[in-house]
Amino acid sequence: MAFWSSPSLPLLGLLSLFLLTTITTTSAAPVTTTPIRLGIIRKPSPDNVPIFREAPAFRNGETCGSPAKDHQIHVAMTLDANYLRGTMAAVLSILQHSTCPESLVFHFLWSRFEPDIHSSIKSTFPYLNFKVYRFDANRVRGKISKSIRQALDQPLNYARVYLADIIPTSVKRVIYLDSDLVMVDDIAKLWEVDLGDKVIAAPQYCHANFTQYFTEAFWSDKSLAKTFDGRNPCYFNTGVMVVDAERWRQGGYTQKVEEWMVVQKQKRIYHLGSLPPFLLVLAGNIKAIDHRWNQHGLGGDNIEGKCRSLHPGPISLLHWSGKGKPWLRLDSRKPCTVDHLWAPYDLYRSSKHTFEE
Ligand SMILES: *[C@@H]1O[C@H](CO)[C@@H](O)[C@H](O)[C@H]1NC(C)=O
Repeated sequence: MAFWSSPSLPLLGLLSLFLLTTITTTSAAPVTTTPIRLGIIRKPSPDNVPIFREAPAFRNGETCGSPAKDHQIHVAMTLDANYLRGTMAAVLSILQHSTCPESLVFHFLWSRFEPDIHSSIKSTFPYLNFKVYRFDANRVRGKISKSIRQALDQPLNYARVYLADIIPTSVKRVIYLDSDLVMVDDIAKLWEVDLGDKVIAAPQYCHANFTQYFTEAFWSDKSLAKTFDGRNPCYFNTGVMVVDAERWRQGGYTQKVEEWMVVQKQKRIYHLGSLPPFLLVLAGNIKAIDHRWNQHGLGGDNIEGKCRSLHPGPISLLHWSGKGKPWLRLDSRKPCTVDHLWAPYDLYRSSKHTFEE
């Protein structure tokens, strides 16, 4: 079940020695761990899963009817130890602003089974209706090319491509959400958008310079560039998407996106991770919805320490896409102003040790 490769023994020893040195010189915490244990640092150990407060029980309003199958709202997110704090905040924000929180069904994708994360969700949200699915990272590993940002190269970042194939076929529509966002409006409004004959709905940005998402090698190759013929391609962010899962499956969209990832492997046609192949297949062919549903870029692009302010207009969802994450900036005591909008949803119990030791 382990998908991380364990380092060979000599290396393990070396790694432990290095870690021991680092810890003893940079931290005052007593080093009680044995070298072998420190060697497991690459796989989060039970002690590394943060502790979260229990969220309150959220109940359906009177207008919801019975939380029967036909009233369910399906939400999909990935689950990763590094982003768990973000996921917890996102889930809380969705529940809190939902008129019918008991109608929500969460579908979590993860690439390796981590029982501690599972129990962490269970204890934080005892009433949450959720399922977890394994996303086989091997399905995508050979198709990932190095992007300009290492974080974008994680296999789990590509799980959204396979989402419709992983969740049960009985789920005909699903909202995919990144883990670095909070919802500040009723998700039912997003769920109910009319997709028309489109496969996905998302805010789109036709003023953004679309050219820059692809390389010169792409635009100069007529056979590649003509993929956008007959479309008005506009940028959209793949962190918030309403997906017609049935249409996605029937249209073989997973394969369509994968095909571009194969092209990218042979010839560098873009710089970013999972976004460009989505644009190649779907840009100019999505249902454009109000920008309020994805106020993105709050992480501040790729420039460290760069703060963004909010765009004018109503906001239903705040998204810290980009390099900076609100929990890291808040912890470092150098938060951006917008990070204070994330903080109320933070369930992380930083005072764990005070209570338990
Ligand atoms: C769009 O980006 C491309 C590539 O970076 C650049 O060459 C072009 O001048 C830009 N166009 C506009 C209108 O800014």
